[in-house]
Amino acid sequence: MSDKVPGIQHIIATSSGKGGVGKSTISINLALGLMQKGFKVGIADVDIYGPSIPSLMGLEDEHPQVLGQTLMPLQKHDLKIMSMGFLVGQDTPAILRGPMITKFIHQFVTGVKWGELDYLILDLPPGTGDAQLSLSQQVPLTGALVVTTPQSISVKVALRGLKMFEKVNVPILGIVENMQGWATPEGPSPFHGGKKLAEISGAPFLGSIPMDQTVAISGDEGEPLMIRYPESDAAQAFRGIVSGLLDQVNHLAAAPAALGSFKWDLKTGEGKPKSWED
Ligand SMILES: Nc1ncnc2c1ncn2[C@@H]1O[C@H](COP(=O)(O)OP(=O)(O)OP(=O)(O)O)[C@@H](O)[C@H]1O
Ligand SMILES: [Mg+2]
Repeated sequence: MSDKVPGIQHIIATSSGKGGVGKSTISINLALGLMQKGFKVGIADVDIYGPSIPSLMGLEDEHPQVLGQTLMPLQKHDLKIMSMGFLVGQDTPAILRGPMITKFIHQFVTGVKWGELDYLILDLPPGTGDAQLSLSQQVPLTGALVVTTPQSISVKVALRGLKMFEKVNVPILGIVENMQGWATPEGPSPFHGGKKLAEISGAPFLGSIPMDQTVAISGDEGEPLMIRYPESDAAQAFRGIVSGLLDQVNHLAAAPAALGSFKWDLKTGEGKPKSWED
């Protein structure tokens, strides 16, 4: 993997196997949570297919300044923000293909004038395809967060993401469960997918975000939860996850091999629980 990007201490990717599990919401609110702890933070929305950071941050009509070859990030709520959406437009069908996407993403990290950052959060497109794989190899990630919902289908797909990062030696900093308590016709979902995923993968479980109107409203209205409803249960949950994330980053610095190690051997399949398919 390439060397650190000058000026950026840690780059953390937020990923999920399935789309719509709340990756962008989590990226923004964790970024703000880190910022509220006193860190300098940037967020890069590299979801070329459906960039949503501009609308979640209330920045739909904004365009970044270009200085020579350099893109200047936008700033809001003390975050530095760059999104594919500022460049391609939210409704422009994305025609970029694999290698072009990777190049684009790489430029996003290296060609944006981020200045000094403690953390850069990368909001990845959903899935575990080529774009995510090559990104994990080309951008010097400190580690990845994997987002899942409590349901077992989301967990199975998230597991593919965990394996992908494992293959390219990107540490899993933690698993975040979103939309917890989502009601099914029988009542609240009985599954606790985040914990289960942590259990079978050996990756740390950082916490759950409840399914909560405050999250949905702040997303719809373009004013992030951590700003609009800082006292809500969901904001409290985000603060817990930020603390867990910081602990993992510190652990990783102290003992790089300790994180993200699967309990089963991915090559031989030894130790794999029977109920989990590839
Ligand atoms: N915990 C939550 N409670 C209520 N609504 C939520 C929660 N998390 C996310 N949402 C809502 O779900 C929708 C999808 O969230 P978001 O865009 O963050 O998902 P995503 O995983 O980034 O999606 P995509 O795969 O399209 O990138 C948004 O409208 C968001 O406000
Ligand atoms: Mg998204």
